[in-house]
Amino acid sequence: MQLHNLKDATQQVSFIEAVKTGLGRNQGVFFPDSLAPIADIDALLDLDFVTRSSKILSHLIGDELPADTVAEMVQNAFNFDVKLVEVEKDIYCLELFHGPTLAFKDFGGRFMAECLAQFSQGEKVTILTATSGDTGAAVAHAFYNKPNIDVVILYPKGKISLAQQKLFTTLGNNIHCYAVDGSFDDCQSMVKQAFLDDEVKEKLGLNSANSINISRLVAQVCYYFEAIAQLPKAQRAKAHISVPSGNFGNVCAAMIGAVLGMPVAKLSATTNQNDTVPRFLQNKEWAPNATIESLSNAMDVSKPNNWPRVQHMLDNAWFSYDDFYSSCVDEEKTKEVMKKIHQTGYVAEPHTAIAYQGLKENIAPGSAGIFLATAHPAKFKESVEEILEIELPMPKPLADALAKQCLAEDIVCDYQLLRTELLKKLA
Ligand SMILES: Cc1ncc(COP(=O)(O)O)c(C=O)c1O
Repeated sequence: MQLHNLKDATQQVSFIEAVKTGLGRNQGVFFPDSLAPIADIDALLDLDFVTRSSKILSHLIGDELPADTVAEMVQNAFNFDVKLVEVEKDIYCLELFHGPTLAFKDFGGRFMAECLAQFSQGEKVTILTATSGDTGAAVAHAFYNKPNIDVVILYPKGKISLAQQKLFTTLGNNIHCYAVDGSFDDCQSMVKQAFLDDEVKEKLGLNSANSINISRLVAQVCYYFEAIAQLPKAQRAKAHISVPSGNFGNVCAAMIGAVLGMPVAKLSATTNQNDTVPRFLQNKEWAPNATIESLSNAMDVSKPNNWPRVQHMLDNAWFSYDDFYSSCVDEEKTKEVMKKIHQTGYVAEPHTAIAYQGLKENIAPGSAGIFLATAHPAKFKESVEEILEIELPMPKPLADALAKQCLAEDIVCDYQLLRTELLKKLA
């Protein structure tokens, strides 16, 4: 796969370089120069999830990795279910929360871990990240026990839920967690300082494993094909897929799937009140506002860093602007929709409810609709229980993690201390 930096086309990289580098020059994201359609989509859709995903990823990555290596990576990464559940006539929910950390991030995170383990060829790699909750868990589980890779996670002490914290601080081995006496921004600023520190960067082989990494996007393409494969055959050609969107990585993956030939008629990318993209599509002005906190807090993003990739495909007519919808759902509507979905017997957390609403606003009569459940309702237990006035059972991965001991070390918010600690422990 040949990619270029969308801010500086002279920076050309291979898939392996793009995965190892993450972000390009001038903070530009990498994107494939071209995306060739896959031949015989019907045969592809007949395959099982893991076999089909190996073929899709091999097609995308090309000859940089042997097909059997890709197949092995996919087998390791995608070892949990993807379920399509019909919640109303012709309206389906794509449940992406059956992985170890109960969120869609498990797909991208686990495939990225396979890639880095494969590409580091025995070189030392340290993944350093700050988390305000969910990223820590997804990264920790994805890289847990990967040879030659250490993971360092900083989180603001006392400012994330116990369930979130226990999902990553109880693993141990190559997962090193620090409870920082400060805010999430303090944690992020320490991470930034480490990436500017050449000695630390070099001795530890720092990598950020963040959400703009191309390996995550290509992995996410696979579950859209699985959604279409699970639809009744007669409904495949007219499917409308709705994606709850914050950084716009997930909907970017859906669009890549469509460019590869996946039968999808329309895409909706629905946001919460952080509505930079819906406003941009209306008036062509890129005018991010200050970020607003919401119930769907993983989508509290006003400068979506994957948007340039989506816009690139739209501007080059790889996907039609006419078939792309982006609207926003406010807090009151989100609650109302959660209650409405609950009346059908289904429990959706806020992000999922936003996707449902985006679908219902735009779906054409007679089409099948798919909205994405990006997180298990129990991950947003407090708001779901309060809004729906129900008690949620604890899913097993969360109950297991809660029963374990937290292994994080406390650290004051001081980069020099962190630096000394990391060099002593990991260099
Ligand atoms: C539960 C959940 N839903 C939706 C999103 C939005 O996905 P994206 O940032 O790819 O648009 C996120 C992102 O972190 C998330 O955690």
